[in-house]
Amino acid sequence: MKGKTAKETHITMAQVVLPYHANSAGNMHGGELMKLMDTAAGVVATRHCLCNTVTVSVDKLVFKEPILVGDLVICDAELIYTGRTSMEIYVTVNVENLSRGDIKPAMEGYFVMVALDRNRRPTAIPPLIIETDEEQKRFDEAKARLSRK
Ligand SMILES: CC(C)(COP(=O)(O)OP(=O)(O)OC[C@H]1O[C@@H](n2cnc3c(N)ncnc32)[C@H](O)[C@@H]1OP(=O)(O)O)[C@@H](O)C(=O)NCCC(=O)NCCS
Repeated sequence: MKGKTAKETHITMAQVVLPYHANSAGNMHGGELMKLMDTAAGVVATRHCLCNTVTVSVDKLVFKEPILVGDLVICDAELIYTGRTSMEIYVTVNVENLSRGDIKPAMEGYFVMVALDRNRRPTAIPPLIIETDEEQKRFDEAKARLSRK
C-alpha cells in the first residue's frame, strides 16, 4: 500500500462567522467550530486512505479566544499519525478580525479517525511518509498518546 506525506492531504478551510453560527450575543457556538474542525479532519483522513472514515475520539478542546459574528475562522488540519486502521489529525483554528486585520490562535485539537470498508468495519490504511524530524517527533508523541487510550 503506497504511503502519502502529510503535505499531500493537508487542508485549510475558512469560514466567515454569520449570525446563524452564533448565540444572541454574537459569540460563535462551540459546536459550530467543532463541526468545522471535524469536517477538516475528515477530509484529511479520507484523502489519505480514499475510503469512508469516522471520528472515533477527540481530545480536550479549549476555546482560547472569543469568536464573534463577522470574524473569519481559519482551520488547518494535518495528518500526524497512522496506525493499522486509525489516523490522528492535528487541527488548529485561528481567528481573524477582518476589520482590524489581526489573527489569533483560537483552538487546537487531536482527532482520531478510523477507515472503514464497505461493511463498516475497520480497514488497513496506507502509512504516513515522514519527511522531517519534527514530523517524526509528532508521530512518536501521537503513538505514545494513543497507546494510553
Ligand atoms: C470506529 C469503530 C469502527 C472502531 O471499532 P472497534 O471495534 O473498536 O475496532 P478496533 O478495535 O479494530 O479499532 C480500530 C482502530 O481504532 C482505534 N480505536 C478504537 N477506539 C479508540 C479510541 N477510543 N481512541 C483512539 N483510537 C481508538 C484502535 O486503536 C484501532 O486502531 P489501529 O487499527 O490503528 O491499531 C467503532 O467504534 C465505531 O463504529 N464507532 C462509531 C464511529 C462514528 O460513528 N463516529 C461518528 C461520530 S458519532
